[in-house]
Amino acid sequence: MESTIEYVYEQMLNRNVVVLIAVSLAVTYGLWNRRGNLPPGPWGLPYFGLVPYLLLMDWLYGLQRHEALARVAGRYGKVFSFTAFGRVVVVLNDAEAIKEAYQRREMNDRPRMKVKNHSLGKGVAFASGDCWKEQRSFSIRTLESLGAGRPVHEEKIAQEARTVLDEIASHEGKPFDPKFPMLICVSNIISTLLFSIRHEYDDDKYKAFLDMIAEITHLMGTSGAIQSAPLIKHLPLDSKKRLAEFGTTECRYMIGIIKEHRKNLDPGNPKDFTDAYLGEILAKVQSGETESHISTENLPHTLIHLYSAGTENVSTTLRWGLMYMIAYPEVQARVQEELDRVVGPNRMPQLSDEAALPYTQATILELQRFSTVAPLGAAHVSTDEFNLYGYTIPARTPVIPNTWAIHYDPKVWKEPAKFNPERFLTESNSLKGADGIVSFSAGNRICIGRHLARMEMYLLFTHLLHRFNFRKVDGSPPLDFRGHGSFARVPDLYLLRATERHQEGES
Ligand code: HEM
Ligand SMILES: *[C@@H]1O[C@H](CO)[C@@H](O)[C@H](O)[C@H]1NC(C)=O
Ligand SMILES: *[C@@H]1O[C@H](CO)[C@@H](O)[C@H](O)[C@H]1NC(C)=O
Repeated sequence: MESTIEYVYEQMLNRNVVVLIAVSLAVTYGLWNRRGNLPPGPWGLPYFGLVPYLLLMDWLYGLQRHEALARVAGRYGKVFSFTAFGRVVVVLNDAEAIKEAYQRREMNDRPRMKVKNHSLGKGVAFASGDCWKEQRSFSIRTLESLGAGRPVHEEKIAQEARTVLDEIASHEGKPFDPKFPMLICVSNIISTLLFSIRHEYDDDKYKAFLDMIAEITHLMGTSGAIQSAPLIKHLPLDSKKRLAEFGTTECRYMIGIIKEHRKNLDPGNPKDFTDAYLGEILAKVQSGETESHISTENLPHTLIHLYSAGTENVSTTLRWGLMYMIAYPEVQARVQEELDRVVGPNRMPQLSDEAALPYTQATILELQRFSTVAPLGAAHVSTDEFNLYGYTIPARTPVIPNTWAIHYDPKVWKEPAKFNPERFLTESNSLKGADGIVSFSAGNRICIGRHLARMEMYLLFTHLLHRFNFRKVDGSPPLDFRGHGSFARVPDLYLLRATERHQEGES
């Protein structure tokens, strides 16, 4: 016993050990000190921080970024911080925290991402400061005056819905992939608003263009999925080159459209968003306002952002929706029973029916929760230091929401991995609030297309289920609810069958 104490004592006097202890204390203190008053969070390796953990979770368990970060959230609660590549990132993990943080004026900026031939500091969705403010308020005002997402827009959406129903009917009950029908339908709705252009459902050139737009989102996502550091640098050279090419193609497409609009411009009478923007540029020039960000330089980028945000999220949600309907035929049958009772077989569902369709509304809410197409939302970056729940968020800190963790939080949702619309209904079958749903984010950069998106989802989803029964293809592989991607969560390829519910001439 005595000799043991002596041994320890001797060792403690050993200079090497003393130095080692001193160094590790200093390092620990340094790390501790650097954390300052940040939200709590997991330790990480020097410089790399949590990145090896995220990669390991992926390699070992196939966990996607949002899933791995949700695990961390399980330990730390509504807000935590981690480091990656020497930078601090803050993650918001409940609906309340997103509202609290994103309503702050210090939280309005986007992180600067540099990707060759993508001007990410311009346009509406990736800009910051005054440029963002001007693009955003102009875009909101103009979409509103064009009627987007308002009752006057109903007939146009319904018209496009009828064309996609006919496209689906042309498969005559044989297995088909709903990807392009959904993509083309939704892109036609935004494309008509933006440039008065729509495409046919068999337009292969346009399909290739839509694939490219989706690929851009995917590549941007794999580069910035944790949106914390210039991860874009670590993309394989080949992907970077493709991303640059796609950026050029996308921008040229918009510039071509702008040129056409310039030729026939009637500034007092804008037929679409592009006309309205060109008219505003002219008005600014005439009034001598030269400093404005409503400019020829920003126009193609604002168009790109509205076009891709307006296409991908809604069509992806609907693609998930059809998958859930074939996976949960009892939910599909209940929606159809409600549609039959309220709408009947002789006409199509309308906005005015919505209030009388609580189960259908609950199903669309559950669809938004279950699909969570933007699992990590969009990153914001702080412009100045500010206080959040007693923690200090330093200036230039990226802050991301984990929408997926919020939508699948077992403390909020009973059996979150089950598709169950009834969680949004009271016992008397009326609709409960949807406070826990944060698909569109919150605060000063909340999605500007949310009214349009809700209207499209309601009209398209009800049109689809009113006319068809959707079924899984016999003997096809089991459906996978995980899909791929953390920036945009997209279902893997699946086929389904659609059969008419009402006799010819009756519908
Ligand atoms: C289900 C459909 C949709 C979902 C889930 C969705 C989700 C989101 C999210 C999470 C953001 C980021 C907000 C933030 O930074 O805090 C956003 C921004 C945006 N969304 Fe949507 N969106 C949808 C549909 C649309 C549609 C139809 C449009 C077309 C007008 C649109 C246009 C935009 C734009 C322009 C922004 C950027 C706003 C800004 O940076 O100030 N979105 N959306
Ligand atoms: C990127 O843009 C520049 C300038 O517009 C152009 O010359 C170049 O070809 C583009 N790169 C790619 C890969 O498209
Ligand atoms: C939906 O929109 C958000 C914000 O613009 C974006 O981050 C996300 O990738 C989009 N998701 C899909 C499925 O396109």
